[in-house]
Amino acid sequence: MTNQPTKWIIGNWKMNPATLADAVALTLQLEEALADVDTKNVGVGIVPSVLYLTDIKSFLPFNVQLGVQDIAHKTAKTGAFTGDVSATQVASMGASFVLVGHSERRQYHNETDEILIAKIKNAFEVGLSVVFCIGETKDEYEQGKTQAVLEQQLQLLAQLTKDMDFAHNLPNPKLMIAYEPVWAIGTGLTPTLDEIVSTHQFIGDLLTAFEVSAPILYGGSVNDKNADEIATCRGVDGVLVGGASLKADSFATIISAFLTKND
Ligand code: PGA
Repeated sequence: MTNQPTKWIIGNWKMNPATLADAVALTLQLEEALADVDTKNVGVGIVPSVLYLTDIKSFLPFNVQLGVQDIAHKTAKTGAFTGDVSATQVASMGASFVLVGHSERRQYHNETDEILIAKIKNAFEVGLSVVFCIGETKDEYEQGKTQAVLEQQLQLLAQLTKDMDFAHNLPNPKLMIAYEPVWAIGTGLTPTLDEIVSTHQFIGDLLTAFEVSAPILYGGSVNDKNADEIATCRGVDGVLVGGASLKADSFATIISAFLTKND
């Protein structure tokens, strides 16, 4: 991508599909679904299982970037860390970005701020961009604690800006934020459009205070039906899509929803 896109649509395949053959088939379906979609002004990424990266890359002749769902925190390079995959390794496989802080990683792998900071630094060390995911749980939402939780989760960026230079002049952002309410992930529930707008505004203000510039994506039950209205929300620079990214047509429809909102 030569011009910096202003909207980003990223598909997180999570631990799907079950076989390499299915992953290749989905990639080919996506290629077909995007054949008539002019994606040159938007950034499109998919985040398959790291196992499938090489094969998917060879079947990915269109303008789609590859990301990974995790990297090791102990080192960016290599070492005695059984089961881990390093930033260096995934970059060598063609990944250009990594998800960090996804609620499923925080919840099932007890990822702390310390671990998340280490992962972000490792990613930046090898030139990977980072999609940093934040979001409140249902209880926190119901108790009106959304902003407090997001502020606390974003604090680590203040620490990072002290240590690192975010102003890399690279063709893609080094950092993106994905606001994903935990209660909206995979549930079919979403905040109201007003809530999305005001939360994105809140996050944007915090980023400004931390002197961080990053697109802010929304994630959580985005699908081919609601993408259009989410795309109209002020301050929404794109979406992180789970379930609906496993259906090529739905994902293509979501991408199309953002093509006309390229302000
Ligand atoms: P969902 O997942 O679109 O299936 O809700 C989003 C995510 O976890 O990134």
